[in-house]
Amino acid sequence: MKNMMSSSRVVIIGTGAVGATTAYTLLLRERVSELVLIDANKEKALGEALDMNHGLPFTGGVKLWAGDYSDCAEADVIVIAAGASQRPGETRIDLLKRNAVIFDSIIQNIVKYNNHGIILVATNPVDILSYVTLKKSGFPSNRVIGSGTLLDSARFRYLIGQNKKINPRSIHAHIIGEHGDSEVPLWSLANVAGIGLEFSDEDREEIFNNTKNAAYEIINAKGATYYAIALALDRIIVSILQNEGSVLNVSTLLTDYNGVSDVYLGVPSIVDRSGVREVLDLKLDSEELTRFHASANKLKAEIAKLDL
Ligand code: 2OP
Repeated sequence: MKNMMSSSRVVIIGTGAVGATTAYTLLLRERVSELVLIDANKEKALGEALDMNHGLPFTGGVKLWAGDYSDCAEADVIVIAAGASQRPGETRIDLLKRNAVIFDSIIQNIVKYNNHGIILVATNPVDILSYVTLKKSGFPSNRVIGSGTLLDSARFRYLIGQNKKINPRSIHAHIIGEHGDSEVPLWSLANVAGIGLEFSDEDREEIFNNTKNAAYEIINAKGATYYAIALALDRIIVSILQNEGSVLNVSTLLTDYNGVSDVYLGVPSIVDRSGVREVLDLKLDSEELTRFHASANKLKAEIAKLDL
């Protein structure tokens, strides 16, 4: 069965490691009919497009080119992966000032050509930059989505799977809140086939610390993370384009959600052709709720410093 939509265009803005790997993932999996790469460094986008196009005899018939913002006009999904990424020792929040400035012009350029598509933000700090995108684009919140804690949840499921010797696809477990240091593990809801999972305190601590610190570990080891985030973005894009209605822990605007409003955070959301169709109402235990509020307050304090 073909994965490709009959006619769908994805534009990727920023062809660094994340943008380029996402393009390559979509290409390999034949997800879209048209894939456009845009970068402030046009040469870089051209080089990536050329390199990937030379692989087309070995894959399906995706039309891929290095373009410009006018190509956003017919885009179904616009992925923003542009901006600085963490250097060893930096947190995601440390990137905010630098990347918020870049977002100003990116969003202005997108809305010049497109007011109907879905913007998928991957640049860090992803929750805050998704909120910035919402405010600057004027798009409705269902069509501005951040990659959120989908990647963190995948890391969590992988590590729980290792611990329990169960395939991570069969582990249902969620990380919510900031995609970053204040993220919240929902131990109370982790299950396999609806059966709750038991862990020793040491195992819990180790699994969560390894989840939360995964990016630091990878950045120390090889400078950047890109394979797993590319697969997470692919997952979101497919759920949109194929109108799946999958439940994904993306970053979305919260309104009176467990006592939290007016901030983007990762929570389980139903994603379909309309973008985020609905946010699932989670029942958190008191510790999870306290941590979730702390995560929201941390990001709101950062947003308050911005000129929006
Ligand atoms: C990650 O978690 C750095 O946010 C990026 O891999």
